[in-house]
Amino acid sequence: MYTINHLKKIKKNKQKFAVLTVYDATFAKLLYNQGINVMLVGDSLGMVIQGYNSTLSVTINDIIYHVRCVKNGAPNCLLLADLPFMSYNNNEQALNNSIKLMRVGANIIKLEVINQWSLDIVNYLTKYSVPICGHIGLTPQYVNFLGGYKIQGIHKNDANRLLNYAISLEESGVVMLLLEHIPELLAKKITEKLKIPVVGIGAGVHTDGQILVLQDMLGINNNIPVFAKNYLNNYISIAISNYIKEVESGVFPINKN
Ligand code: KIV
Repeated sequence: MYTINHLKKIKKNKQKFAVLTVYDATFAKLLYNQGINVMLVGDSLGMVIQGYNSTLSVTINDIIYHVRCVKNGAPNCLLLADLPFMSYNNNEQALNNSIKLMRVGANIIKLEVINQWSLDIVNYLTKYSVPICGHIGLTPQYVNFLGGYKIQGIHKNDANRLLNYAISLEESGVVMLLLEHIPELLAKKITEKLKIPVVGIGAGVHTDGQILVLQDMLGINNNIPVFAKNYLNNYISIAISNYIKEVESGVFPINKN
């Protein structure tokens, strides 16, 4: 069983770790067999599974369903799961929804931290020893508030605010931090300052780990963010188009009688 202690050791030894999002058992098993030990059932499923243009549609029941699928495929992975939009509006709701996710197999609960109110919610959860990953920087659940999917922490005040949030989160007992779409030097500063493992997406090379959305790195999502990378070069599209061609031309199926 992979645990947060493995990530702490990786950080201590100045090594790096790779994380991917995943939503189903088949991919979870494949990822785990390839050496991805840490996975996230994120609310990006609103875009890459449900086809919406934001994460706002995702409910706690959607996350529960996908956590079950992923844990069936990779029972020994360290599984992070998102508390989706407006599912942690007050202490009791946040605690109850975290419990629901942990009961079906989530090991760490991730939530987006945008202000003092969300810091207070995290404080409440850690009092109950819920293992939390704070998500700061670009927080997609607040896309309407932020005015778009823009890089955060550019201006000095904003950078200081994010640095202070990171410190407060560590002090409140979170086990991990995720930085999304912030300047590389700010991510470096935060990563060096904190003892807990820090994973980044669009935050440069200095974080302890990197995370990508599976569909982005497979190049099968049309709206791939600027900081993602396509590692598959359209092989899935080529496979599907070859299948169509072979059916239409009668090459498939092969008559084995
Ligand atoms: O939901 C998600 O996939 C995420 C990633 C962008 C890290 O939070």
